[in-house]
Amino acid sequence: MTRENIELGNVTPHNIKQLKKLNSVVFPVSYNDKFYKDVLEAGELAKLAYYNDIVVGAVCCRIDMSEKTRRLYIMTLGCLYPYRRLGIGTMMVQHVLNYVEQDGNFDSIFLHVQVNNEGAIDFYKKFGFEIVETKEHYYKRIEPADAHVLQKRRSARKGKPTAPSSKLFGFLLFFFKYTFRECRFVAVFLPFLF
Ligand SMILES: CC(C)(COP(=O)(O)OP(=O)(O)OC[C@H]1O[C@@H](n2cnc3c(N)ncnc32)[C@H](O)[C@@H]1OP(=O)(O)O)[C@@H](O)C(=O)NCCC(=O)NCCS
Repeated sequence: MTRENIELGNVTPHNIKQLKKLNSVVFPVSYNDKFYKDVLEAGELAKLAYYNDIVVGAVCCRIDMSEKTRRLYIMTLGCLYPYRRLGIGTMMVQHVLNYVEQDGNFDSIFLHVQVNNEGAIDFYKKFGFEIVETKEHYYKRIEPADAHVLQKRRSARKGKPTAPSSKLFGFLLFFFKYTFRECRFVAVFLPFLF
């Protein structure tokens, strides 16, 4: 018996129709030609998920520069219903998380999710995403129209330059430690001075 094989592959002009079909089945929102044109240029930010060589899922992201920060926006991440709870979504999120870690210059990752999509909310919470905002009437043609914004801040990396506040804290710590050490030194030798 062969084990199931899950892998990610690139989106190309040859398989873009499979991505369109998949998104039309998985999401209640339809995406226009510009969306798919951009996806073809997204490189590692767009991936198809294969289960034993069959396309069953996809993730499409873009870089968002609004709000004075560089953030990764997950536009779509979905898996066909019969293939859910097999780790395919996890593999796609993990790909996105690895991308963000390797890049090193993203502030956070975020996405919108319909407020009643409890499965997806639970799924993202597992990876450290939090609901940071709820936008009323976010969707135009679907009910409920409200969306939660789920966000995950990028984890602090080892070896990264420290923030000014922590530098200041480090300096103060050093200063007090040194001062107290000197005071102790003076205190020990004080009796011999008189
Ligand atoms: C959300 C979605 C991508 C999850 O994909 P998936 O392949 O089923 O996810 P995984 O198998 O990797 O699940 C990992 C874990 O997430 C949690 N999880 C996933 N789906 C869940 C659900 N419906 N309810 C509760 N928890 C869920 C579970 O803890 C799960 O681990 P477990 O199966 O060992 O209990 C999938 O349900 C989907 O395509 N939904 C429709 C599209 C969508 O809503 N996308 C989100 C907005 S972009």
